[in-house]
Amino acid sequence: MAVTRKKAAPKKSSTKKSNTVKLKFDTGWSYDPAPESRSAATIKPQYDLFINGQWQKPSGKKYFATTNPATEEKLSEVADANAADVNKAVSAARTAYDKVWSKMPARERAKYIFRISRMVQEKARELAVIETLDGGKPIRESRDFDVPTAANHFFYYAGWADKLEYAFPNRQVAPLGVAGQIIPWNFPLLMAAWKIAPALATGNTVVLKPAETTPLTALKLAEIIQEADLPPGVVNIITGAGATGAAIVSHPDVNKIAFTGSTDVGKLIQRSIAGTNKKATLELGGKAANIIFEDAPLDQAVEGVINGIYFNQGHVCCAGSRLYVQESVAKTVIRKLKDRIETLIVGDPMDKNTDIGAINSKQQLETIHRYLDIGRREGAEMWESSCPLPRKGYFCRPTLFTNVAQSNRIAQEEIFGPVLSILTFRTDDEVIEKANNSPFGLSAGVWTDKGSKIFNLTRRMRAGVVWANTFNKFDPSSPFGGYKESGFGREGGLHGLMPYVDIK
Ligand code: NAI
Ligand code: MG
Repeated sequence: MAVTRKKAAPKKSSTKKSNTVKLKFDTGWSYDPAPESRSAATIKPQYDLFINGQWQKPSGKKYFATTNPATEEKLSEVADANAADVNKAVSAARTAYDKVWSKMPARERAKYIFRISRMVQEKARELAVIETLDGGKPIRESRDFDVPTAANHFFYYAGWADKLEYAFPNRQVAPLGVAGQIIPWNFPLLMAAWKIAPALATGNTVVLKPAETTPLTALKLAEIIQEADLPPGVVNIITGAGATGAAIVSHPDVNKIAFTGSTDVGKLIQRSIAGTNKKATLELGGKAANIIFEDAPLDQAVEGVINGIYFNQGHVCCAGSRLYVQESVAKTVIRKLKDRIETLIVGDPMDKNTDIGAINSKQQLETIHRYLDIGRREGAEMWESSCPLPRKGYFCRPTLFTNVAQSNRIAQEEIFGPVLSILTFRTDDEVIEKANNSPFGLSAGVWTDKGSKIFNLTRRMRAGVVWANTFNKFDPSSPFGGYKESGFGREGGLHGLMPYVDIK
């Protein structure tokens, strides 16, 4: 139901005691807070490194804090792995590969992966709560999307483990060895599942590093892996920042690098592994074009645009951050978008009513603010929701820019926040030209009533995934990955097995 909220004076509507904001609607009703309980989650005050099936102290004896971005409180501290720890983890993975995992019958490997999937399901509530506390995403998303999709990935790839001869008919496939996997902070558990599941199914062993702001669900996954009795060393999970990641990338005994994160670090990784035998898949940034034609069902399209950019605070590499609207319907679409944005609830991520949670870190909030300034300076017109923001924590109002030129930085660069740049077009050729005029090519969306238009456009769009009359839909069986500066290699589906095997 569409409701219009009164313009609230931000400061007055924040309650003094709690960090939640209560919203009043013109219809005379409001949402009471519906917070998820923290009691479902056990977070230890300190975590060591998970190497060779055991928790090991970091050799440099250093730890760093991970905080809750919605409250700025410290949640726990995690070990800072140095090159010696990376070396230990890689040797454990190598021994496990040589002695156990590569020799185990595939159907036995599958049983372990199925078990991990089941245990992720059993612990779904705890994982969702920890994901939200550590990363700031709304509990509704971690509960309904991140955790179930992570379990599905393990389940899906467990099924492939003993069927590789059907995945690659008449070919001989062999695992690569040790996979070094480095993941970002936007989908911490889900990215761990995307990386670990296909690696294990194809017989590789793993050293995985979560992002420094969101290590806790990966460490919970390490506990699950330990409880699942996976042979020691098959999966090692180590924490640290960029230097730890770089040590994994440059370790001579790592056979494959799987990375998701910024294009800048992706380029560093390519440089670091140039001239080696290491295989790599890089999933980098994006600036997806979401295209609305005049014949589209406009209300559905608006809902899709909202989901495309404001979902997960815009911390999505495939976020629909550029909207192209056909000129004849632009006014209507922009009005509908603003109306809908006004109803979005920004605030406590643990509240089940919340649509937009906390920005993942202070640094990321600063990046977003920098782009808001850039957009205004470039002459675009900025509009933001009038919603109140909590006093503490890192929050950003859902924002859109109109009057945007194709060459503006806010139409070209990844902002990674709840910020939409709106441009208009008249013809199909024009919009394809504009949509493809981007250094990225991860995803795109098309909204139209005509099937022929969809086929015409999807063929000509240079993007790894093109959604038609929907957006941000994921399934373990469909491949995902980019063109150009969005990286290379595919994750998910049958394609997601390929980067982990040698095919003869
Ligand atoms: P980042 O690329 O620095 O971090 C991603 C992961 O790479 C983290 O685990 C980090 O510790 C690790 N890392 C950092 N430096 C490394 C190095 N030299 N070698 C190996 N690993 C390294 O991303 P950051 O700084 O957190 O975010 C910056 C921007 O990147 C964001 O504003 C966003 O535009 C983009 N980004 C894109 C993501 C995606 O899903 N494609 C995810 C996260 C960020
Ligand atoms: Mg955190």
